[in-house]
Amino acid sequence: MAKYVVRQSGALMGDLVASGSKNAVLPLMAASLLTDDKCRINDTPALRDVEVLCRILEDIGGQIRFNKEEKYLEIETPQIRAAGAAPHLAGRMRASILVLGPLLARIGKATVALPGGCAIGARPIDLHLKGLEAMGAKVQTFEKDGFDFVEATAEHLKGCEIYLDFPSVGATQNLIMAAVLAEGTTLIQNAAEEPEIVDLANFLNKMGAKVKGAGTDNIRIEGVKALHGTEHTVIPDRIETGTFMVAAAISGGDLTIHNAVASHLTPITAKLRETGVDVFEGEDFIRVDARGKSLKAVNIKTLPYPGFPTDMQAQFMALLAVAKGKGTINETVFENRFMHIDQLRKMGADITYADRKASIIGTKALHGAQVRATDLRAGAALVLAGLVAEGVTEVSQVYYIERGYEEFVEKMRSVGADIEYIEE
Ligand code: UD1
Repeated sequence: MAKYVVRQSGALMGDLVASGSKNAVLPLMAASLLTDDKCRINDTPALRDVEVLCRILEDIGGQIRFNKEEKYLEIETPQIRAAGAAPHLAGRMRASILVLGPLLARIGKATVALPGGCAIGARPIDLHLKGLEAMGAKVQTFEKDGFDFVEATAEHLKGCEIYLDFPSVGATQNLIMAAVLAEGTTLIQNAAEEPEIVDLANFLNKMGAKVKGAGTDNIRIEGVKALHGTEHTVIPDRIETGTFMVAAAISGGDLTIHNAVASHLTPITAKLRETGVDVFEGEDFIRVDARGKSLKAVNIKTLPYPGFPTDMQAQFMALLAVAKGKGTINETVFENRFMHIDQLRKMGADITYADRKASIIGTKALHGAQVRATDLRAGAALVLAGLVAEGVTEVSQVYYIERGYEEFVEKMRSVGADIEYIEE
């Protein structure tokens, strides 16, 4: 088991380059199943989740070339060999459900083991299934060898109107991918508006699809007969950038993050400015200067985009743990995303919570402790807390962090963080 050892580090200073987005690249990879041509995705981050999805696509029949030096991924699926994802792989990540829509569209059948991923709440897939059923798919769930599966079949998917009860990111992506080859026009209402949805629509349109309105809550997809291969550069990872922005703020440092799209970061920038630090937005970079500033507490409510991202909630909780005054966090997207509270408390944080609301009273100093990454973003938050805690913080279960942060230790060390990777 590997762990990170983090020591109090002083101000983080310098420049970092954000990687390609984890949450954008996974749906692009799934979308490559919609054609038998080759698709090339540039700026693909070398992450555990990307590796797992590569194995799933290979099982399905994908021929994959991942050049990690030059950061491009080529996927060609001349034939579908298996109509789904094996449980030992699908169980490891929730994004495995994203092969459902493309497989159904391409071969009329998909069987996928119900997905795993970070243990942040129940995370059902009812909206994905309801939408596919509205397009004419027959959906059933069954159990085999101790695993739960979902199977969808459809001779022809038909365009229709779908209203999502909640703007689910994954459901919106799955339904767009199913609709691009369906007969007629599909309208997705109350769709998710995340930049990762826009990136998927751009990728599909380059493949010959007709997707309009991505980035709004009304997405219209006109089905086409076939798609072809394409080349695309994935958008930068806004959550990785946001994490570095908080690293600058919490450490009283000055970090410039390159390959950043400032408009994707608006809620993070706004909340950081409210804490009292300076944020400068450039064409291709964002800079946080917190030198000489004392942090003030803020109130946060997580919401679907363009609201404050749930994926930045834990990192802000670490920040509020050392800010002046009482801040609150209301988590409205996931029902069980506060597991990091107990870990931050071990480091001296003063946090109380009930239901989905946490109150954080900033303390002058946190202290090092042995803590556990309870999910991907929670793990990053504990590292941030460790940067300012007195003494040594040992973060275990770092495989969660490696699911979504490329070269995290190397990047943090390059700007002055005292962090070591230890293989036990
Ligand atoms: C994606 C992101 C994840 C992020 C989340 C919310 C990827 C790979 N992951 O996850 O990092 O935290 O968006 O921004 O892109 N829900 C239902 N029924 C469904 C689908 C979702 O009730 O059929 C609920 C979920 O339980 C959750 C909420 O909707 O409470 C949001 O989920 P969703 O937007 O689907 O998140 P993911 O696509 O899983």
